[in-house]
Amino acid sequence: MDSVQIGLLGCGTVGAGVVDLLAKRSGRILELTGLRPQIKRILVRDLEKPRALSIDRALLTNCVDDILNDPEIAVIIETIGGTSPAHAFVMRALEAGKHVITANKDMIAQHGDEILAAAARTQTDVLFEAAVGGAIPLIRPLKECLTANVITDLQGILNGTTNYILSKMTATGAEFGDVLQEAQDLGYAESDPSSDVDGLDAARKLAILASIAFSTRVRLGDIDVRGIRSITAADVRYASEMGAVIKLLATGSNEAGHVHLRVGPSLVPKDHPLARVDDAFNALFVHGDAAGDLMFFGRGAGSLPTASAIVGDVIEVLRNMRLGVSGRLTPAPNSSKPVNEREPAPAAHFIRLEVGDKPGVFAQMAALFAQKSISMESVVQRRLNPLAAEIAIVTHDVSAGVLARAMKELQSLPDVVAVHNVLPVLKGDSTS
Ligand SMILES: NC(=O)c1ccc[n+]([C@@H]2O[C@H](COP(=O)([O-])OP(=O)(O)OC[C@H]3O[C@@H](n4cnc5c(N)ncnc54)[C@H](OP(=O)(O)O)[C@@H]3O)[C@@H](O)[C@H]2O)c1
Repeated sequence: MDSVQIGLLGCGTVGAGVVDLLAKRSGRILELTGLRPQIKRILVRDLEKPRALSIDRALLTNCVDDILNDPEIAVIIETIGGTSPAHAFVMRALEAGKHVITANKDMIAQHGDEILAAAARTQTDVLFEAAVGGAIPLIRPLKECLTANVITDLQGILNGTTNYILSKMTATGAEFGDVLQEAQDLGYAESDPSSDVDGLDAARKLAILASIAFSTRVRLGDIDVRGIRSITAADVRYASEMGAVIKLLATGSNEAGHVHLRVGPSLVPKDHPLARVDDAFNALFVHGDAAGDLMFFGRGAGSLPTASAIVGDVIEVLRNMRLGVSGRLTPAPNSSKPVNEREPAPAAHFIRLEVGDKPGVFAQMAALFAQKSISMESVVQRRLNPLAAEIAIVTHDVSAGVLARAMKELQSLPDVVAVHNVLPVLKGDSTS
């Protein structure tokens, strides 16, 4: 029976889960592939750090050359994270003819083109199912099962931290800052939460998904990104009164060869399946022209859920090695489509503003909306104090340009104190 030697880079939350799951599934992997994967060395930063008992300390090294220069090691599993030094290690591994499995969305979003080109050149596999959506199968369905479709829409909740914060704000009525603090105390949010709350983590995942789904190269800088720091308890409460919840959505559309990509807070009608994706769960809604609507849902992070995706990739690499077809399934995008160069399709919007509590203010606002042909679907008005009132509006579909001009004029009306938030509203039915 042949064994395949594996080098594991990183042994934190994900790496330790991989060690455990590979050990637990070794019999099944042997049955499926005829090969037995064996972790030969594990790279860590700190050799003295306490580790789970399942980690054989004799395998630990803090010298990457022990792994990358070892000709017996055929497969690298990268779970270090970040772009440096992970990217350099992965490039060296590919140049040495080793297959690479990674959970690293930062590296794939930023250096995916170069890594996939190196894999094609060296006839090696690079698989990264765990990089987006943790346990949820997303990359393989998009790159294999759905290739008979033109994928026209992606709508996802791809970041567990922000989804936890928004779910908590919805359930308790608390403010963003308080819930963030609680999430940090519980270890659900990093001490520097900016990558999550400013939308960058979701944008990196959207860049990876959209590149595959829309067969194009997407750069992070192409995506219109907005985080959730500006969302207040008031926004959440008005959204709820208007039949919706606020979610950080990653959305992509592909219409007539033009791609539109956005990450930002949006209202999701309570009857939409994405509205019920709460806490640390992730989900992706996909519309394919033949398949129709599909939704993928599950645990987007965690030690074993992420290891589940990585070990699935290990099995695919072993199968490919067995069949002698390594390096044939790399999903290199074959076209380049313009991204965010046109206005997105018109959409309904939620607007929350504060006005002087005087007669005629609402009429002024309504006149401005009528002049711009913006019609209102629902309006809630509440007195804040004897001098000020708050108005929340949901419009019917309006183009981004018309809306931006209307908001500028609205701000300049003498009795409008501030326009606090303007958020798109997801259509109740993703196909309409
Ligand atoms: N956590 C999740 O639920 C999750 C879900 C999906 C994807 N991912 C992705 O999986 C990757 C790993 O995440 P994680 O949560 O497991 O991270 P983590 O707990 O911080 O573990 C990182 C590991 O890498 C090692 N490491 C870091 N820098 C190193 C360096 N310069 N040289 C050698 N070793 C180094 C650390 O060594 P020490 O142990 O000695 O510090 C640690 O073992 C990231 O790309 C992340 O985005 C994570």
